[in-house]
Amino acid sequence: MQALNPLAIELNEELLDAAPSVFALLSELGKRIYLPKGILSQTAEANRQAFQFNATRAIALDFSDGTGDMMHLPVSRKLVPELTPESTYGYAPVLGQQALREVWGTHLLQENPSLHQKTFSLPIVTSGMTHGLSLLSELFLDSGDTLILADQIWGNYRLIFQTKAGADIQTYPFFNASNGFNTRGFHQTLANATDEKLCVLLNFPHNPTGYAVTRTEAQQMVDAIVARAETGCRILVMIDDAYAGLWYDDTVMHESLFGLLVGCHPDVVPVKIDGATKEEYAWGLRVAFLTFGLDATAMQPLEQKLSGLIRANTSGASQVSQTLILKAMQAQGYAEQRQRNYETLKARALKVKAVASDERYKRYWDVYPSHAGYFVCLRLKSGNAETVRQRLLAEHGIGIIALGETALRVAYSCLDESDIERVFAEIARVVEKG
Ligand SMILES: Cc1ncc(COP(=O)(O)O)c(C=O)c1O
Repeated sequence: MQALNPLAIELNEELLDAAPSVFALLSELGKRIYLPKGILSQTAEANRQAFQFNATRAIALDFSDGTGDMMHLPVSRKLVPELTPESTYGYAPVLGQQALREVWGTHLLQENPSLHQKTFSLPIVTSGMTHGLSLLSELFLDSGDTLILADQIWGNYRLIFQTKAGADIQTYPFFNASNGFNTRGFHQTLANATDEKLCVLLNFPHNPTGYAVTRTEAQQMVDAIVARAETGCRILVMIDDAYAGLWYDDTVMHESLFGLLVGCHPDVVPVKIDGATKEEYAWGLRVAFLTFGLDATAMQPLEQKLSGLIRANTSGASQVSQTLILKAMQAQGYAEQRQRNYETLKARALKVKAVASDERYKRYWDVYPSHAGYFVCLRLKSGNAETVRQRLLAEHGIGIIALGETALRVAYSCLDESDIERVFAEIARVVEKG
């Protein structure tokens, strides 16, 4: 076993002192990781004090016009002429641009009434949500640690937590007999896992079904988590809020479970993973956030550890991407443009709900309840989902996703409202042919 670096020991002691539950949840790598006092800290010192020449940064400066601005290629600059060279080409801070972190924190408060008067961290910028989930996996999960997941999930969780980290995944059926969220199954799976440390990952609005929880279901889940924590278990609750804000149904809760979980129990550590990815319609910009339900004293060492992990993999998220998101969120017309996209997606969701659940399709499939996000999922009553998918693609040129033997996921986010009727009619035709 590798000896711990003195800086890691210091961080561990700080964490143990400030937040013993967080320390107890750390993986072996989480205990080992630290941010070396190397180039970054020397550069930071020079940024403050080098009044003559600063030759610390691994970048190149251009003095041809006397400014000493970032050297760059005008052919790329002319594509984003309004942005400064520094905000386009410079390195962003390891944990992300301070202003963007603050703007996202304000956004969380606006969107989540339950967060008011609660303590949560400044969001940390990651290179997309997948990166955020991977960081959590590195920080908290060792091979063999238990992760509780629903049986219907975004498939990448398995790659991140099972294949990469070696977690022992315990699943519960996502739906109960009345097609609501299976709070009882969730409760039982938590209760049955005998570990003293548990990791839970929740995702609403849900991929693949588009399900969103009611406030009652959300409270039952929090109660189940608190009940398990009461037995002496430390629980990391990861909340994947990829589709936050995209709720189209008034019967479901229009905020994240995160707000309900923050401060619910000293041994429950909630972390929200969300992003510009879907919320800001910026999939390929790779800007997302990790926000912990922890106070500043706990975050101090934890941020150092996350800085170490980020430094050791991506070294930081894209500067130009962060600048684009920040400037967009501060721009005039931002709220209206966002609302317009929301209305478009909501209209498609409502249309899909009406069409997919139409009487004439009842003999082919059931529709899983869908209230939010991008997707609707069909449960075929006969035939094989993969066969239907292949034939739909080959014979009708329509692409959808087959999940397991019987489920078909349709991303209506990619369909014009006027094409929705046709798509489901074609699916029905293929299913009918058998
Ligand atoms: C539930 C869920 N989480 C996370 C992601 C990935 O987000 P990102 O592209 O920011 O890595 C997706 C993308 O489809 C998703 O559906």
